[in-house]
Amino acid sequence: MLTYLDHHASTPCDPAVVAAMAPWWTENAANPSSRLHRPALEAAAAVDIARARVAEGLGVASDAVIFTSGATEANNLALRGVAEAALERGEPRRRLVTLASEHRAVLEPLAWLDRHGFALTVLPVGADGLVDPARLADALEPDALMLSVMAANNEIGVLQPLASIGALCRDRGVLFHCDAAQAVGHIPLAMADLGIDLLSLSGHKLYGPKGVGALLRRPGVPLAPQQLGGGQEGGLRGGTLPVPLIVGLGAAVAGALADREERAGRLGALRDRLWAELAALGGVRRNGHPRHCLPHSLNVTIEGVDGSRLHRLLRRVMAVSSGSACSQGSPSHVLAALGLDRRAAGASIRFGLGRGTTAADIDVAVAAVRDAVAELRAPV
Ligand SMILES: Cc1ncc(COP(=O)(O)O)c(C=O)c1O
Repeated sequence: MLTYLDHHASTPCDPAVVAAMAPWWTENAANPSSRLHRPALEAAAAVDIARARVAEGLGVASDAVIFTSGATEANNLALRGVAEAALERGEPRRRLVTLASEHRAVLEPLAWLDRHGFALTVLPVGADGLVDPARLADALEPDALMLSVMAANNEIGVLQPLASIGALCRDRGVLFHCDAAQAVGHIPLAMADLGIDLLSLSGHKLYGPKGVGALLRRPGVPLAPQQLGGGQEGGLRGGTLPVPLIVGLGAAVAGALADREERAGRLGALRDRLWAELAALGGVRRNGHPRHCLPHSLNVTIEGVDGSRLHRLLRRVMAVSSGSACSQGSPSHVLAALGLDRRAAGASIRFGLGRGTTAADIDVAVAAVRDAVAELRAPV
């Protein structure tokens, strides 16, 4: 069995979550929108319970939750939905603001809007991955409609200062969207306290199933649906609700919150040991801010080695990534935003620890990097 250290790409589904989902695949297959018979009412009740669990996890009321197929769809709904609603009501503000280190599921819809009548500002981040608050304040010009800043970066784990960003947005009357796919279930997140108007999350990043997520919307935030159909989710997202996946998402959020603190403490200690032992090899640089960072994340660059040869050696013993699982082989735009060149980005390793990670896994990772470095740096 390979050592799995790629939990930012996806987490294993918690067996308790799989068990919670099971009856909704086979025993009760009713459509919760049918309403006229008991199985449908039971399915609708299960969806309500899951909705309440997701909402509670973010400290909001159930009616904030719009179930989607994942964070990609939630981001698209938030960004394109806010923009379309603004057009419909004749809102003159057209500027959208984001960071260069955002996930492609934010950058792509914003680039699309930029080509279709909106104006996009993409702010740089510092070498540590953090946004400069003064620069952000300057970018929120009077024509700014919405800011999208992620909670935790999927490649370097960097945590942006959400509370001060939220306060700034509130002060300027700018809507604040936060892609929290890598943060929910991993760090404390109270949506209202942080001034977040729209928040995206994903099941498979928090030990739940793939193919389900949610957009949480502060009541009253104008949003145009991006998927029209049967009027589900208050008319904001048409399509039959995937009851088993939604039940799984609710169970996953509850489960991730239940062990969050213990997990963060344990994985933080393992991650710190991993970093200390890798740093001791020499010629290893850490990417992203070392403290404003997810506890289970470590991203490093190995100096003086070829990235593709490095990853060919590493993948014999462990599953790690050189960047985002969604970037499909192209060099990491996140590491480029930190100032790394193509070669350094290619020779970078993202370690994502998870619930099942043990001290023995860290030993395997350190040995794998040590052996690979010895081979690749050996004089020919
Ligand atoms: C920060 C971030 N946003 C969005 C996504 C996309 O999520 P999903 O796979 O649920 O569409 C990911 C997944 O890699 C992510 O890390």
